[in-house]
Amino acid sequence: MISDYIWMDGELVSHTEAKIHVLSPTLHYGAGIFEGIRSYETPHGPAIFRLQDHLERFLDSILILGVLDFPYTIDEMRSAIHEIIRVNKFGQCYIRPLMYLDGPLNLNIDNSIPRVAIAAWEWGPYLGEEAQKTGIHMKVSSLTRLHPNISMTKSKITGNYVNSMIVNTHALRSGYDEAVILDPSGFVAECTGENIFMVREGVIYTPPRASILEGITRDSVISLANDMGIPVVEEVISRDQLYIADEVFITGTAAEIVPVRMIDYRPVADGFPGPVMKALLASYLETVHGKGKRSEEWLDYLSFERKN
Ligand SMILES: Cc1ncc(COP(=O)(O)O)c(C=O)c1O
Repeated sequence: MISDYIWMDGELVSHTEAKIHVLSPTLHYGAGIFEGIRSYETPHGPAIFRLQDHLERFLDSILILGVLDFPYTIDEMRSAIHEIIRVNKFGQCYIRPLMYLDGPLNLNIDNSIPRVAIAAWEWGPYLGEEAQKTGIHMKVSSLTRLHPNISMTKSKITGNYVNSMIVNTHALRSGYDEAVILDPSGFVAECTGENIFMVREGVIYTPPRASILEGITRDSVISLANDMGIPVVEEVISRDQLYIADEVFITGTAAEIVPVRMIDYRPVADGFPGPVMKALLASYLETVHGKGKRSEEWLDYLSFERKN
C-alpha cells in the first residue's frame, strides 16, 4: 500500500500531488541520493531498524556526491521519518528518503538547491517470501559494476542504479531471479541491490568494502555471525569460488537475507538453503522484531495509533 502522504521539505503532501519539476537536474543527470530503510512490528510497537546508521549513510552519500549545503541534520531527518510513518499510520513499512536537486538545469551542483522527499509504503521482502524459504537462481552478469573512479560506490547516488536496472532487467528477462555483478578487476562485487556472502567449511566470506555499497544488513549479518561464533572473512572472491561454495546468500534492507540455490545453472551445494544462512535469517528476524540480543541497540521505536 502506497502512503497517503509524502514528506516534501517539511510539508505533508498527498501522494498524487508529490511532484518535482521536469527540468530537475536529478531527473536529467542522475545526481540524487536515496536510502532504503524498514520499520518492523515489535512487542513494543513499530520500530525502525538501524535508523541512525541509515541516516549517517544518507548524509555521507550526499557529501560524497559533493552537495555541501544540505539543509537537514540527522535529528531533523529522523523526526521527518517518524512523522511520515505516524501520519500514514503504518506499522511495518519500507521508507524511502530521496535528496533531489532543484534549480536551473545545469551540471554544477553548486548552482542547485538540495530538496528532500520521504515516502513510505507497506512492502514484504523484495524478492518474495518464497525466495527467502527456497532460494533464488542468480546469474553472473556480463556487465561490470561501477569503477569507484567512475561513480563512487559508497554513495547511494540515483545514477549508480542505471547499472543495477540494466543488470536486473537482463537477468529477469533471461529467467533468473537476480544477478551478481563483478567489479572492474573481475572479482565478485555485489548484486543489483544486495551484498553477497558465501560459506565454505564453516567460514563466511564476503567481498571487501572498497568497491561495494557498505550494506547495513551486511554489517548486521557480520555482527550476528560474530555473536554466534561463526568466523567472517572479508576477502576477494572469484566467480568460480561461488560455484563451489557450501552456501551463498545475499543481504539487503529490501530483500533481507535470501539464500541462493543456483548460480549460472550450477546448484549451490544440494540446492537448498544452508544451516548458516538459516541461523542468520532467524536471528535477523528475531532482532528486527524486537526479540534479539541486539534489538535495543538497533531499533528506534515509534509510538502512535495504527490504522488497522
Ligand atoms: C548496490 C547495493 N548493494 C547493497 C545493498 C544493501 O544495503 P543495505 O543492507 O544497507 O540495504 C543495497 C541496498 O541498499 C544496494 O543498493
